Amino acid sequence: MSETGPLPVVVLISGQGTNLQALIDAERAGKIHARIQAVFSDNSEAPGLDRARRAGITAHHLARGDFPSRAAYERALAERIERYQPGLVVLAGFMRILGDDFVHRFRGSMLNIHPSLLPRFRGLDTHRRVLEAGDAQHGATVHFVTEELDGGPRIIQYRIPVRAGESEGALEARVHVGEYVILPRAVALIAERRLRLDGETVMLDEVAMTEPLMVEGESGK
Ligand code: GRF
Repeated sequence: MSETGPLPVVVLISGQGTNLQALIDAERAGKIHARIQAVFSDNSEAPGLDRARRAGITAHHLARGDFPSRAAYERALAERIERYQPGLVVLAGFMRILGDDFVHRFRGSMLNIHPSLLPRFRGLDTHRRVLEAGDAQHGATVHFVTEELDGGPRIIQYRIPVRAGESEGALEARVHVGEYVILPRAVALIAERRLRLDGETVMLDEVAMTEPLMVEGESGK
């Protein structure tokens, strides 16, 4: 990978791929100095695969059921990803927990987008859990992927106030809007070689970040 060329990126998805679309749009608009080389999905039905193909990006389906074990599946996935020599792997709604070997292989060059203000609400069903907990704020986080599920060093967050009486679907939709802002922004910073992971510390312009960058969303009114 040349230091100044566009950053080669591989994106992993399982579903709609609206975050993938945000990356495709940002690349097209020249907002990120990156090139999405390939998309992989564990789900043959993922609409995101079509989004990729429509954009002229090679899209692969790799089924877990075609491999005897999770480890074998992840080895095969890692090998196929590495053929593209990506400088960055983005988990954009990839709904599988990845094992330590896979994570080690891409440590420092793999991001995830998670729909909560981490460290609040790791795991699934975040929007419902936020409403049940009565939290005043919610959002999304882009973080480096480490061995700890949804626990890697945070890069950037999007934060909105939760509205009184808001439904889970409405909250989810408002969070999604912010995801399309923060994911391309994180990729842009990495592609500009301004942001990197050093051990457990996110370095921005060679200064250790103590808190993630914060984008404030629409007001609760
Ligand atoms: C997003 O909410 C993301 O935060 C989560 O999975 C969802 C993916 O949505 N990890 P999409 O496939 O990008 O539309």
